Amino acid sequence: MGSPAAFSAKKPGIPHKLPDHIRVLPLCYLAEVCFTGAVIPAFTRVFSFFAHGALLMSAISLSWYYMKNRHGKGYYMLAQKMEDALNEQMNREMYSAYLYMAMSSHCANKGLKGFANWFMVQYHEEMFHAMKIYEYVNLQGGKAVLKALQQPPSTFVSPLEMYTKTLEHEQFITRSINDLMELAIAEKDHASQIFLQWYVTEQVEEESNDNEIISQLVIIRDDPNGLMMLDRELAGRVTTVPTEYSKGLQAALKGAAA
Ligand SMILES: [Fe+2]
Ligand SMILES: [Fe+2]
Repeated sequence: MGSPAAFSAKKPGIPHKLPDHIRVLPLCYLAEVCFTGAVIPAFTRVFSFFAHGALLMSAISLSWYYMKNRHGKGYYMLAQKMEDALNEQMNREMYSAYLYMAMSSHCANKGLKGFANWFMVQYHEEMFHAMKIYEYVNLQGGKAVLKALQQPPSTFVSPLEMYTKTLEHEQFITRSINDLMELAIAEKDHASQIFLQWYVTEQVEEESNDNEIISQLVIIRDDPNGLMMLDRELAGRVTTVPTEYSKGLQAALKGAAA
């Protein structure tokens, strides 16, 4: 078993700060400049040869270092700002899952099994959204950081209120995804732009689904027969995303497709 220090060790071969030799080499050149014109010309000539070599190596190393560290994180592809924002979004997706699970529980408690099923399927969808970010951040050399989840409400006035809250929440998520995309564009992070494109499309579908059910609930109003008919319809919704991630997202996706 590794010691705690092993867990905090940096990945081998990935520089997090300016390598020491890059700091030392310019000093060699400075020393050469000081020695030029000194009383021992032969020594100066030999030293000058090595010092110029050191300066050249220093310049090449510096160029290479800054090229690889455009985001200040060694070979990592994600800028710190982008990584933090993605982790924040992962937390929001997990809160979405938490919120819809609470709504599912409330519906089950009220005998609305179809609505309970719809919100439980939605819970799985949101966990999938969170897992996609979790994997992407880690894949890009960052670290998925889990934060505390806000407590969701536990009681709701009616199905219409639940779907109105759901739509409001999804609109908030859409704005959040749009902000992430703006950041990815500002950071010239093309990989994250492609990754986030999936979420942009997904949000259109999410809001559309909520609007459709809200329209039906507005027509139904207080008609119990209408409500029970819609409940039966929502009971047919099935989970199409993976629900088991113990072997990672890619294995889970293959499992869901099989
Ligand atoms: Fe989501
Ligand atoms: Fe959602």
